Amino acid sequence: MDFKGSHILSIQQFEQDDIDNIFTVADAMLPYARRQKVTRVLEGAIMGNMFFEASTRTRVSFGSAFNLLGGDVRETTGFESSAIAKGESLYDTARVLSGYSDVVCMRHPKAGSVAEFAEASRVPVINGGDGSNEHPTQALLDLYTIRKELASKGRGVDGSRIAMIGDLKFGRTVHSLCKLLCLYKNIHVSLVSPKELSMPDELIETLRSSGHTVSVSEELTASIANVDIAYSTRIQEERFQSREEADLYRGRFRLNQSIYTEFCEPNTVIMHPLPRDSRAEANELDVDLDKNPNLAIFRQADNGVVVRMALFALVLDVAHLVDQYAQDVRWFPGIGR
Ligand code: NCD
Repeated sequence: MDFKGSHILSIQQFEQDDIDNIFTVADAMLPYARRQKVTRVLEGAIMGNMFFEASTRTRVSFGSAFNLLGGDVRETTGFESSAIAKGESLYDTARVLSGYSDVVCMRHPKAGSVAEFAEASRVPVINGGDGSNEHPTQALLDLYTIRKELASKGRGVDGSRIAMIGDLKFGRTVHSLCKLLCLYKNIHVSLVSPKELSMPDELIETLRSSGHTVSVSEELTASIANVDIAYSTRIQEERFQSREEADLYRGRFRLNQSIYTEFCEPNTVIMHPLPRDSRAEANELDVDLDKNPNLAIFRQADNGVVVRMALFALVLDVAHLVDQYAQDVRWFPGIGR
C-alpha cells in the first residue's frame, strides 16, 4: 500500500510487504526511542490525540512517538471534556479537528466510529481501538514483539504455536492479531476462553481459511502446554451490561509461575496487551511471573513506541528523512533503556 496520507483503520488493509516495511522502519527508530539520538523531522507538525475511552499505554505511546519525531501533541480525553457532550456529531468533530492537526489518533467505544471519523477527516486518522472491533496498532506491536521474541530463540512466526487466553469475544487486540496472523503460514492457534466469551466464528474461519489450525478450549493448562506464545487478555469489563456479569468470568484463567513451571515448555513467551487486571479476583498474570525472563509484557509495551513512530513516519512520508534531522542527545539518557 502507499502509506503516504493513508488512514490506518484495520489490519485488513495490509499485505505482507507493508508489515515488513513497518517493521524495518520501526527497527530504524530504536536509537531514537532509546534516546541515543534525537530527531526533529516532524518539527512543526501537530498530532490530535483523541481518546474517548480509558487508556494509558496507547494514548501515551502515540504521544511519545510523535514527540520523539519532533512533533507536538494536542490531547482530548473523555466525552465530557469535548463538544461531543454538547451533541456534536463525529462528522463535525472530524471536519473541525482535522483543520487543527496533521494526523489524528483516535479511540472510541463504538465499533466503526473511527472509520466514520476518518471519512470526514481532512488528515490521516489512526485507529487506537474502536469498541470491540479492532486495535490495529496493538496487533502490529504484538506481532513485532512475537517476531523479536521468537527470533531470540532461533524461531520464526511461520509454523509457530500461539495460545490466546481470556475474553476473546470483546478483546479487540486478539481480533486484530488473528487478522494479522493470516499473513503468515502454518500457525497453530489455541483459543482459550469461557464459551460465552469465545472468538467470533468469522475470525476462526478466517484463520482456518488461511491454512492455520485452530483449537478451541475452556481448559487453560492443557492449552498452554505446547505453545511458543501464551497471550493472555483481560475480561473487557467495560463491554458488559454490569460489573456483576463481568465478575462471572474474571479470574477464570490465571497464569502464575507454578502453573508455568508445571505445564509450559521452558521457552514459552508470555504476552498481554496490558493492563493486566491485578485485583485478587482477576489476576490473570500473577506478579510472581515478573522475574520470569520469558515474561515479555513490558518489552511488548516498549515496542509500541517504535511501531507507532514507524506509522507516523510512513503516513507523513518522512521515514527517509528521520536520520537527516538527527542530533546528539544532550541530557543523561536514563538507565536501562
Ligand atoms: C487493550 C485495549 O484497550 O484494547 N489495551 C491496550 O490498548 N494496550 C486491552 C485491554 O484494555 O484489555
